[in-house]
Amino acid sequence: MEKNCQELNLRKVAMIGCGFVGSASAFALMQSGLFSEMVLIDADMDRADGEAMDIRHGLPFERPMKIYAGDYDDIVDAAIIIITAGANQKPDETRLDLVHKNVAILRNIIPEISKRGCQGILLIVSNPVDILTYAALKISGFPENRVIGSGTVLDTSRLKYEIGEYLGVDSRSVHAFIIGEHGDSEIAAWSSANVSGVPLRNFYEMRGRHKYEKAAERIADTVKNSAYEIIAKKKATYYGIAMSVRRICEAIVRDEKSILPISSRMHGEYGIDDVVLSMPAIVGKDGLESLVPIDLDEKEQRNLKESADTLKEVLADIDC
Ligand code: 2OP
Repeated sequence: MEKNCQELNLRKVAMIGCGFVGSASAFALMQSGLFSEMVLIDADMDRADGEAMDIRHGLPFERPMKIYAGDYDDIVDAAIIIITAGANQKPDETRLDLVHKNVAILRNIIPEISKRGCQGILLIVSNPVDILTYAALKISGFPENRVIGSGTVLDTSRLKYEIGEYLGVDSRSVHAFIIGEHGDSEIAAWSSANVSGVPLRNFYEMRGRHKYEKAAERIADTVKNSAYEIIAKKKATYYGIAMSVRRICEAIVRDEKSILPISSRMHGEYGIDDVVLSMPAIVGKDGLESLVPIDLDEKEQRNLKESADTLKEVLADIDC
């Protein structure tokens, strides 16, 4: 008989999947000091156990917490359940190519969580993250605020980094979003991008960069192709996404009401309905609080609609 959730432990996190992304994220979470308990689950129990041992050997340099390999009964009271399980992209594969394999894996994992009445927030990280977040929402029956995806938080971080480097300014002062699919149809929302309130185009001029359009195009391409480039060189990406997972957890655990481009279900915003993609959203203790409908110019709106259509085509194929 499965254990059922009685009360949430706000300092407890569960990581399902201990591959590159899961273990790097667990390592980042251990260092964050956000949690006092972390359960690792993997289809390969030894893998989960080995990662737990390895990570907890760093605890004397950080704050005390319990880190252990467990099973689904151990996660019923976790405040955040992170899913990184699934196949990852190989060179020459797109994220969408993983859909059938990873939806099938999700169909095994999610019922284990929902049948135990878990009340925590589901954070989907496995790819294609938008499709899998939609599938998780449908399979779990959980309320929408509690089923979110890491979305374009990483792409947005890549964008801020590239702009910061190009303009010679701290990337934390750059305010810009990648929205839409976490994948090939993603959109850089240039029309609202700014550096500490100064529109990006003006900031370019200020720094003696006069080829705004060309530079914007190059930066957007670099961001979009980052994962392909890293995967071609080292077979996987994991540090950037691990930091993104840590940032999302921080916003939830500390109830920060931070605005992050997580993936969530759309309800007619920009004429887009019943598909999961990334838009800036207020994130706090309840997960997604509300979307922040930033201004988009006509081209950005058109591209966002196309991104949604791409995702809808894939959804039509997976019967969720
Ligand atoms: C990334 O963007 C592969 O989705 C992963 O790094």
